[in-house]
Amino acid sequence: MSPDPFPLGPHPHPLGAPLVRREGREKVTGTARYAAEHTPPGCAYGWPVPATVARGRITAVETDEALALPGVCAVLTHENAPRLAATDDPTLSVLQEDRVPHRGWYVALAVADSLEAARAAAEAVRVTYETGEHDVGLSADHPRLYEPETANGGYPGTRERGDFEGAFAAAPVTVDATYTVPPLHNHPMEPHASTARWTDGHLTVHDSSQGSTRVCEDLAALFKLDKDEVTVVSEHVGGGFGSKGTPRPQAVLAAMAARHIGRPVKVSLPRREMPAVVGHRAPTVQRVRLGARDDGVITALSHEIATHTSTVKEFVEQAAVPARIMYTSPNSRTVHRVVPLDVPSPSWMRAPGEAPGMYALESAVDELAVLLDIDPVELRMRNEPDTEPDSDRPFSSRHLVDCLREGAERFGWLPRDPRPAVRRQGDLLLGTGVAAATYPVLIVGSDAEAHADADGSYRIRVNATDIGTGARTVLVQIAAAALNVPEDRIRIEIGSSDLPPAFLAGGSAGTGSWGWVVHKACTQLVARLREHHGPLPAEGLTVAADTRKETAEQSPYSRHSFGATFAEVQVDTATGEVRVRRMLGVYAAGRILNSRTARSQFIGGMTMGLGMALMEGSGLDPAFGDFAECDLASYHVPACADVPLIEAYWLDEEDPHLNPMGSKGIGEIGIVGTAAAIGNAVRHATGVRLRDLPLTPDKVL
Ligand code: MOS
Repeated sequence: MSPDPFPLGPHPHPLGAPLVRREGREKVTGTARYAAEHTPPGCAYGWPVPATVARGRITAVETDEALALPGVCAVLTHENAPRLAATDDPTLSVLQEDRVPHRGWYVALAVADSLEAARAAAEAVRVTYETGEHDVGLSADHPRLYEPETANGGYPGTRERGDFEGAFAAAPVTVDATYTVPPLHNHPMEPHASTARWTDGHLTVHDSSQGSTRVCEDLAALFKLDKDEVTVVSEHVGGGFGSKGTPRPQAVLAAMAARHIGRPVKVSLPRREMPAVVGHRAPTVQRVRLGARDDGVITALSHEIATHTSTVKEFVEQAAVPARIMYTSPNSRTVHRVVPLDVPSPSWMRAPGEAPGMYALESAVDELAVLLDIDPVELRMRNEPDTEPDSDRPFSSRHLVDCLREGAERFGWLPRDPRPAVRRQGDLLLGTGVAAATYPVLIVGSDAEAHADADGSYRIRVNATDIGTGARTVLVQIAAAALNVPEDRIRIEIGSSDLPPAFLAGGSAGTGSWGWVVHKACTQLVARLREHHGPLPAEGLTVAADTRKETAEQSPYSRHSFGATFAEVQVDTATGEVRVRRMLGVYAAGRILNSRTARSQFIGGMTMGLGMALMEGSGLDPAFGDFAECDLASYHVPACADVPLIEAYWLDEEDPHLNPMGSKGIGEIGIVGTAAAIGNAVRHATGVRLRDLPLTPDKVL
């Protein structure tokens, strides 16, 4: 192992300490400004016009009535909007052609002096269409399903090892079950918003984004500019859960409109319009087949996914990918099939792939445990692999068994009567469930600068994004440890594409990617300061570093976080309502760098998993083609009263094969496994196995 990258010095080691968020005061006092709260002088407002048909062509756009309204500056349509260059994200090619690929696709933008005038103008725009037959219905036997080359994340679409069919046919015990997860919406607290202005050919956008480096690059490409002619600022961001990982149409519309009218323009998406334009978790129909010996050892494992994408671009929810690494089996197949439908383009939503995939896999493992009458914790331990089943690569660290063991202990899992429907309190049936969780380690090369001032203070510059996670704070902790100075001597600048470029806050990769380059810049700065004799020059000393070379090397290890989630539920036999009584997760995610913000991430993820299990779900209206549940009145997310005691713990996991901090990602693993743990608890409570999320009262009764 290499020498400790954080040698002990005179200052208390800040890694792991529960530092409070640096910007916490600004946020709670309302002085932190979000993208829609920037209003440059002369700013106009844009209100988009969504298509009202699910498939077709625009035959006419009538704008006279809208333009005649007071305060209206312009109506942009495919006929008059600035021409954009094509990029690899066709969802950003807004107002470029007459084709309508799905309901909710933007067909015009009204721009006015006030938000109210823009909205009135948008409602006064008359669009006529020529429509065609549309198809928004996913099924596992849809005739147009095909096997894609790769799924999201670049994973191979299909993997086969050994002889699954033969082993499954020969297995004495088998499970063959199909689970469904409906479309899910990200719905961050802060809707997507952009404020754009052009100054002497330079485009500046305040954007609600998980990574303004990417937004800057895409806007530069779309508007045929150099990257240094575009500045994108994402200083404070109210969540994203993946939906702000790439630029969204409102950024393009705001920039277009600002150029068209020669004034700043703000476009803030109405929440009801978000599901159609900011991505969603695609629905999945998942068939899991497990064949096992009588002692519970799995000999055959198959996970087959059917999902949808749009006709605009291919996005394949990689739900069969976790089955490639979880349990040992000599015979396995994992297959994705996708059908392009007349639906909005799906995209990333917290733990794409793992969240829905582990719901199905971990439910199937529970079904196997019930069949064999083996405790589900014990069954998982019997199928623990020595190396990654899919590749035979060694794990850099894998402490799933320790998570299960510690979780069972803390939760009070044993003694557990495995019989279903025997714990009753009046109308309530009680049950407990467990599921495993996993999430891959992703690290992406980034740039940063570390600067020492003559007065003994330091400044870190890196285009990290804080989407509410505490990124600023943890990066200062990493810098303080590397510089061996107190945190209050360090200032940090993040959230602008004018800073050294860095990866986005997504894929649970932010802290690992940014932290590594911050550590590198700080370490090099310390070396420079050691060589430096006498007082620093007035301008101080600056070191720029990047980690492209280090992160480009393919690790010989399979690198993943693991966890175990336990849940206790009550099922009301009169109303069908399921409530979670308590939930507990234990995670092995490398070194935890800030215990306060990490805990928030874990319990936030678990809360989102509770929503996925019990209330979140959207559907595509077959007649009209759009999402039926598109606002928070119809798309239910957990409220405080739905969220019981949630406990999150972690192991002190040391892994030298990650980055200098020894950290894995923590933003997503909390949602993984939670829905299965709750579903398994519902089965234990009632004796009935429900396989279609969410477990709403109509299904339970
Ligand atoms: Mo997350 S879905 O990788 O932003």
